[in-house]
Formats: sequence, C-alpha cells, structure tokens
Amino acid sequence: MAPKTCFFFLALVSFSAVLCLSPAFAKEDDEQEKGDPGLVMNYYKETCPQAEDIIKEQVKLLYKRHKNTAFSWLRNIFHDCAVQRCDASLLLDSTRRTLSEKETDRSFGLRNFRYIETIKEAVERECPGVVSCADILVLSARDGIVSLGGPYIPLKTGRRDGRRSRAEVVEQYLPDHNESISSVLDKFGAMGIDTPGVVALLGAHSVGRTHCVKLVHRLYPEVDPALNPDHIPHMLKKCPDSIPDPKAVQYVRNDRGTPMVLDNNYYRNILDNKGLLIVDHQLAHDKRTKPFVKKMAKSQDYFFREFSRAITILSENNPLTGTKGEIRKQCNVANKLRTNNDEP
Ligand code: HEM
Ligand SMILES: *[C@@H]1O[C@H](CO)[C@@H](O)[C@H](O)[C@H]1NC(C)=O
Repeated sequence: MAPKTCFFFLALVSFSAVLCLSPAFAKEDDEQEKGDPGLVMNYYKETCPQAEDIIKEQVKLLYKRHKNTAFSWLRNIFHDCAVQRCDASLLLDSTRRTLSEKETDRSFGLRNFRYIETIKEAVERECPGVVSCADILVLSARDGIVSLGGPYIPLKTGRRDGRRSRAEVVEQYLPDHNESISSVLDKFGAMGIDTPGVVALLGAHSVGRTHCVKLVHRLYPEVDPALNPDHIPHMLKKCPDSIPDPKAVQYVRNDRGTPMVLDNNYYRNILDNKGLLIVDHQLAHDKRTKPFVKKMAKSQDYFFREFSRAITILSENNPLTGTKGEIRKQCNVANKLRTNNDEP
C-alpha cells in the first residue's frame, strides 16, 4: 500500500472506531442522561399531582361498565413491556408505511384500546401534555390487577412514549402459545425475570379468554391426549369447528372456576391438565417450572408475592426516560411522525 493510501485507510478505520465507541452513537436509548432521575415513585407529584388518582378512578369506572377492561390492562403490560421496552408502542396505530405491533398474530384478541384513550383524555383534561401513555398503560395494569382481586403493586413512573411501533419485532420478543418452556424462560430471563417470576406471570391466565384459533390444533384432527378428558367436551362445545374463521368470536374461558378473579386457581387447573394453551400445559409439567406451579397452587400468598415482584421488573424493562421519546397527546398516534427509522 502506498503511504498516502495507507494513511487514508488508517484514518478511515480510526474514524469508524470513534463512531462506534462514542457514547453518542452507542445504543443511545439505553443510557440514562445526566440529570435524568429515571423511573421514580410518584414521578408526577409536582407536575400533575392528581394523575395517579385520575387513572385509578377511570380504571374503576370502566371496570364497572366493562369488566373485561381489567383483563386488557393486565395483558397490555406484557405485550408492551416485553417487546423491547415499556414505551406504549403497543398502543400505536399502523401508519401508511408501517404495520404496528397490535396488528400481528401474537396480538390476536387484544381489546379495549379505545378505553385507554378514555383514561388518557381524563388525564389530559387535568394536565395536558404531561403524563405519558406508557405510564398510563402501566398504572392501569396496576389498578386493573386490584379490580380483579389481585395484589396492589406499588410501581414507579417517569416512562416516556416511543414514536414507532413495528410489527416485525413482536415475534422476536413475545413467546407464542405453543413455544417451548426453555424459550419462554430465555425470553423472560433476558428481562431479568427468573423462573418463579415467569410461573407467577403466567398466572394472569387465571382471567379472560382464549379464542378457538389458538386452541383448535389441540382438538382437531384428534384431541391432544394430554388434555383432561373431563375438560374436552366443554372445549369441543365452545370450539365446534376445526378451522375457525380467524375473525371468529368463539372462545373458551381461561379459568372456568373463577373466570373473573386473579387467583391461584390457574395453577390447580394446569396441574389438572386443564390448561388451554400448550405453554400453560407445559408449565405444569416441565421440571424447572413444576415445583413453583405446585407451590403457587397451594399458596395464594406466595403467588401474589412472586407475581408482584415479576410485574415490577416487567414494568421497568428498558424505559425511555428524561428527554427521550415524547409525551403523546393521544395514545394511538405519535405526535410527530418521524421519517428517521432509527428513532424508537
Ligand atoms: C408465554 C407467555 C404468554 C403467552 C404465549 C400468552 C398467550 C396468550 C394467548 C394466546 C391468549 C389468548 C388471546 C385471545 O385468544 O384472545 C392470552 C390471553 C391473555 N393473556 Fe397471555 N400469554 C403469555 C403471557 C402472559 C402474561 C405474562 C400476561 C400478563 C402478565 C398475560 C395476560 C393475559 C390475559 C389477561 C389474557 C386474557 C385477555 C382477554 O381476555 O382479553 N399473558 N395470552
Ligand atoms: C405454533 O402455532 C403456530 C400457529 O399458531 C404454527 O404456525 C407454528 O408452526 C406452531 N409451532 C410449533 C413449534 O408447533
């Protein structure tokens, strides 16, 4: 190499090295800036002291009118926080160019998005432009859990809203209904949630419903021999067609015993081979998770303790804080539609 070219080459290499190493370019979303307190308890105490009360009141009012809103708030915290970060990207509508997270197959059955806007509007009336949709999503889950008879879990706030939502990333983060326990444990483990934490979180399947599209492969062409024979007639009655129209409204309740209550009956059901999804069934039979399933089936206290711990970790997964992201005016659309694809 001629000395001149060589110099140019070295300069290029070191310039790229600087580019890669400089904190300004290194995964900037994951770093907390100076003066950014991150997540804290009662983040809005100066800027919108009534925020948490307004959310609580709205969650209660909505629960009175539509009990299933609480199921949605609980499911939302999983679908938002487990996909990269808690940034309310789950709530964004698709744009002309990008399909959003809620449109994917993994998001099938998510509902009540318009009532998140009801909560947001109530908060906006009091303090416009202050409280993020990401915090509303997390706090509504906290209060929804209480409506369902679950524990009160103190949670931090200060999350900001992401500007983009991309369908493609969902599959990478969210386990599927038939995923192996190893893979489920890995995915939650990456967020810092351990095995008892995972077992406790799946206890959310003690409420709500599962549509037949996610169940027919356990019923047709032949019935999964792992299913409890006493549970089969009910499932067949609820899902009478082997190929339900994907838009079908047919579903089975997750917990026939106490379908509206977040309790440890889920663990007794899955030990009894009445778990609906393959993951639910596997949870009670894998040797890594079974001991915790048994313990939670026996003790509601233990279930609630582990559930609270795991929800807390989930709710703090990689948030945007400080000046990152934005405070959306409306939860289903970003304030400014960015063209830069790297923006979160
Ligand atoms: C391995 C992990 C998980 C998988 C594969 C999974 C999958 C599913 C599926 C397929 C449904 C049925 C949706 C429908 O047909 O409408 C469902 C419902 C539900 N899931 Fe999960 N889930 C998982 C973890 C969680 C977690 C961690 C939570 C919350 C902490 C959660 C909360 C719920 C709730 C509340 C429902 C009922 C929703 C309703 O009735 O509207 N799930 N889940
Ligand atoms: C899981 O179910 C989906 C359909 O919901 C199917 O496409 C996929 O092949 C299944 N995966 C496994 C490992 O069985």
